[in-house]
Amino acid sequence: MLAKQVLLSACLTGIALAAPAPLQERQVAGYTNADATFAQTPSPLGKIATTFGPDSQVPADPTPIVPGPPRRSSDVTGATSHGPYSGTPTTTGAVSNTVTGSTIPALPPNPTATYYNPNGLLQHAQPAPYVPFGGLGTNGTQPRYMVNSDFDFESIALGLYQEWIELDLFNNGLAVFSAQDFLDAGLTAEDRAVIAFMAQQESGHATLLSNMLGEAAPPQCTYDYPFTNVREFIDFNQKLTRFGESGVWGFINHLDSREVGQLLAQSIATEARQQMTFRQMLGLHPYPVWFETGIPQSWAWTYLAPYISSCPENTTRLAWQNFPALHILNQPNPNRFSPNDTKMNEVVGSRPIDPSKADIPEEESCVHVNVTGYSCGPAISRNRSEPLSFPGKRIFFSWDDPGQKVGPNNSYVTSTEAGEPKFAAWVSQLNLTYTPLTVTGKNEGWTTQPGAEVYEGDPAVNGTMFVALTDSDLFLTPFNLSIINPHVRALGMYQAG
Ligand SMILES: *[C@@H]1O[C@H](CO)[C@@H](O)[C@H](O)[C@H]1NC(C)=O
Ligand SMILES: *[C@@H]1O[C@H](CO)[C@@H](O)[C@H](O)[C@H]1NC(C)=O
Ligand SMILES: *[C@@H]1O[C@H](CO)[C@@H](O)[C@H](O)[C@H]1NC(C)=O
Ligand SMILES: *[C@@H]1O[C@H](CO)[C@@H](O)[C@H](O)[C@H]1NC(C)=O
Ligand SMILES: *[C@@H]1O[C@H](CO)[C@@H](O)[C@H](O)[C@H]1NC(C)=O
Ligand SMILES: *[C@@H]1O[C@H](CO)[C@@H](O)[C@H](O)[C@H]1NC(C)=O
Ligand SMILES: *[C@@H]1O[C@H](CO)[C@@H](O)[C@H](O)[C@H]1NC(C)=O
Ligand SMILES: *[C@@H]1O[C@H](CO)[C@@H](O)[C@H](O)[C@H]1NC(C)=O
Ligand SMILES: *[C@@H]1O[C@H](CO)[C@@H](O)[C@H](O)[C@H]1NC(C)=O
Repeated sequence: MLAKQVLLSACLTGIALAAPAPLQERQVAGYTNADATFAQTPSPLGKIATTFGPDSQVPADPTPIVPGPPRRSSDVTGATSHGPYSGTPTTTGAVSNTVTGSTIPALPPNPTATYYNPNGLLQHAQPAPYVPFGGLGTNGTQPRYMVNSDFDFESIALGLYQEWIELDLFNNGLAVFSAQDFLDAGLTAEDRAVIAFMAQQESGHATLLSNMLGEAAPPQCTYDYPFTNVREFIDFNQKLTRFGESGVWGFINHLDSREVGQLLAQSIATEARQQMTFRQMLGLHPYPVWFETGIPQSWAWTYLAPYISSCPENTTRLAWQNFPALHILNQPNPNRFSPNDTKMNEVVGSRPIDPSKADIPEEESCVHVNVTGYSCGPAISRNRSEPLSFPGKRIFFSWDDPGQKVGPNNSYVTSTEAGEPKFAAWVSQLNLTYTPLTVTGKNEGWTTQPGAEVYEGDPAVNGTMFVALTDSDLFLTPFNLSIINPHVRALGMYQAG
């Protein structure tokens, strides 16, 4: 018995020696004061490579490239036509049919939403080995990657409108600005290659979304952009991708089709990276938040529509609402080393996500400054000694009346069902925070930037985020935020950090 045990443990030792060391043995000890107890590699810095070949030949087999299915749009190079629309639309308003109620009523929790696990053990019999009970789409039914309701269709069609503008926009900036223009903004040929790659990603996303919609999938439209230089182009991109991403987070978990949600999540993960990259190209912190927020579809459509000038005849129309624009008069300008010094209305136009003006005097700009804390040239991350905004900052607003024609062929009309605005609603991270609105004149007023935190140490208001004026301070959370819509009087976007 004893001999056997000895033999067995000897065997195990033998195996342990042959196998890679267990993970914990390869972990390094904790350390403090940047005083690592282990040698760093490479250290010291050796001779830096100057010749790059010939390479080692690695084992390889001749492999043909298997072409993927065609994309709905080929790679665009060169300028496309742009500008405002001046004709008369042949049809007007959001697509609509029989409307059976005036608002969505609030209901108690779903009676089946009762699961709670106090002991960490499985609470139900398992359907198969290693398979815990539950989940949706886990019982072996064949996936169907198609929209499964009007809600799904309208949401994915909105997403497709977004993918199409991005495909055009990223290419357009590369086409209208020179290599030198980009260099002057601190962006190299390699950075332009990233933007060109992003445009190609969009043609893939547009193809995917078109396939999940079917033959009524909207086609590419013609657009009207607000920027006149590279910094404004990048600023516009980081705002546009912000609501593109957040628009999807807002509806993805409400989709009827889990299969569509799956593929959409895999494309929006890419969009999230694009947003981060554009922030970095603008010399902003890549992600000064702990959570990315979700917004309702009508919010995304409100931000997007004003930049679409016309769509081809018979383009599938959307059911979402266009809210009147909220103008943030003292929108912090990320091109200034002192955002406090931002002038009133220092944005290029009056549409909801128009970028901040970059053509400010050089001595007030942070773009070419080479001082930590004050530079906003492209970087992996920047510290701003003077933050773009801070809790307590007074924010001045003006807002439009409803009834304005926006969107493709000016064929949608802004509307609101809200009464007089009483609150500013700050939508960021996991939170909806209201602050009282002080109305100072017709369609004019101010509020104070809140100091709410998500969890301790994480200020809720930061990054590129969303502000609405509302007539009530209804308590809402990320999964029922769209109930805010009948209370929205005007909608804007805020550059908090
Ligand atoms: C499988 O699950 C789906 C929901 O994901 C459900 O609609 C369907 O009825 C289930 N099928 C069977 C055979 O249990
Ligand atoms: C929008 O304008 C374009 C270009 O003028 C035109 O071809 C198209 O038919 C118009 N669509 C609508 C819905 O009016
Ligand atoms: C638009 O739809 C109408 C009605 O279905 C059709 O007659 C017309 O040919 C379509 N136009 C285009 C450009 O597809
Ligand atoms: C920025 O300043 C540092 C330190 O003075 C210097 O080493 C670096 O070359 C400067 N960079 C540029 C782009 O001027
Ligand atoms: C950058 O900001 C962080 C966090 O606010 C701070 O801890 C750090 O000291 C700053 N670094 C520089 C170089 O300013
Ligand atoms: C910006 O304004 C705030 C509020 O008046 C002030 O506390 C802060 O010090 C200012 N920032 C700088 C760098 O002066
Ligand atoms: C946003 O985050 C950055 C980086 O952590 C921080 O320096 C800045 O003060 C924050 N802004 C606000 C408004 O909290
Ligand atoms: C922000 O959201 C978190 C997570 O849902 C919540 O715990 C917290 O109370 C919210 N904070 C505010 C100020 O609403
Ligand atoms: C929204 O959801 C929260 C729970 O997360 C609930 O307390 C609140 O009453 C809901 N609001 C409405 C208007 O249904």
